[in-house]
Amino acid sequence: MDLTQHIIDELEGARARTFALLDPMPDEVLVAQHSELMSPLVWDLAHIGHYEELWLLRTLAGASPTDVRFDDVYDAFRHPRAERPTLDILGPREARDYVTGVRKQVLDVLTERGVDGTDPLLLDGFVYGMVIRHEHQHNETMLATTQLMRDFAHPHAGDEPATARVDPLREADQVLVEAGPFVMGTDSDPWAYDNERPAHVVDLPAFRIDTTAVTNEAYLAFVDAGGYEHPEWWSADGWAWRQRAELTAPLFWSRDKGRRWQRLRFGRREELPPCEPVQHVCWYEADAYARWRGRRLPTEAEWEKAASWDPNHGDGVKVDGLGPDGAGVGGLFNVEERFGPDEVGAHPHGASPWGCVDMIGGVWEWTSTSFDGYPGFASFPYREYSEVFFGDDYKVLRGGSWATHRSAVSSTFRNWDYPIRRQIFAGFRCASDA
Ligand code: AVJ
Ligand code: FE
Repeated sequence: MDLTQHIIDELEGARARTFALLDPMPDEVLVAQHSELMSPLVWDLAHIGHYEELWLLRTLAGASPTDVRFDDVYDAFRHPRAERPTLDILGPREARDYVTGVRKQVLDVLTERGVDGTDPLLLDGFVYGMVIRHEHQHNETMLATTQLMRDFAHPHAGDEPATARVDPLREADQVLVEAGPFVMGTDSDPWAYDNERPAHVVDLPAFRIDTTAVTNEAYLAFVDAGGYEHPEWWSADGWAWRQRAELTAPLFWSRDKGRRWQRLRFGRREELPPCEPVQHVCWYEADAYARWRGRRLPTEAEWEKAASWDPNHGDGVKVDGLGPDGAGVGGLFNVEERFGPDEVGAHPHGASPWGCVDMIGGVWEWTSTSFDGYPGFASFPYREYSEVFFGDDYKVLRGGSWATHRSAVSSTFRNWDYPIRRQIFAGFRCASDA
């Protein structure tokens, strides 16, 4: 397909999703701060427009700023999330008009000039892809905010339970991933971020990895076995945090009067679905569960090899995680239908060459690896996307969740967060030494 038309479709698809999420919300929900960890949704909305203006109108087309004050209030680095409600920001109506106005100008520039030129930002439409993916990432962040709302149940979240599987996969099997080199990262995915580059060979010893993510039922066994009361399963930092934060179960879990566990999903209290992947656990909980289970978290390299390396082609070849119909290695992307993951193993056709399912589009999966640059990393086009977060403070998550748009994730995509964070749609699968 023509690249310009592809970009237009992707821009419009992202915007339709933004408004599908926000339109059902009354103004007071949009302007409120629902959690210290999150921005008011009107901030995210105008920030999406400001980022688009900055890159596609000002940097690319030399346009002058709509309002120089926006450069301050919508700069995520100048103002941490907790502080954003105090800023002089646009209201719901103004924010909508702002992003719509920016978009109109962007489409004018794009249809006039296309994506030709020598600017490295334009290569394969990179900077447009960056802006499209940015909007999708904030949509997922806004969904996490929505899940934290105490008094708003999103009408699109749906009441349907996940499709019942004929043969539920309750206990994760493991597969052996043979020793040997594979290619990690990418040089060829045109919209890949700087942190996914360059492609490089990593030689791994053999390891075993779970074919599925850990389910609610499997995780409940850890809770019932007193997992949260026994320091021996936890790292020192993890136990200290478990004590301080008084963790007793995943975020959004609670017991009913009969002491049975339930979970809150977008304002609905539901029975715990046994075969869904567990969500809303922090890295420390994932790490403790794995130790209790006699396993460990996979490294980031192990995760990527298990998701995308096909050993059946000579010396091996990388398979892209995403199929043409959006059904990827796991491939769920449920947000248009139901706000939640499908049961593990519901998409067996998306299995990786090693037999791992749901690696993309189920839940974000914690890995044991801290976020850092690959050998030869070069920041592009700005340090604040990735580089300033490198170091031991952040753990890498892989695979994308049911809330991640397919354009915003692949088997090389790297996400990161603090090991204490639980509001993201994150779970995990375990690995073991072979
Ligand atoms: C890649 C999800 C960690 O939300 O901080 C949004 C994405 N970067 N705006 C974040 C991002 C700039 C980023 N994560
Ligand atoms: Fe942003």
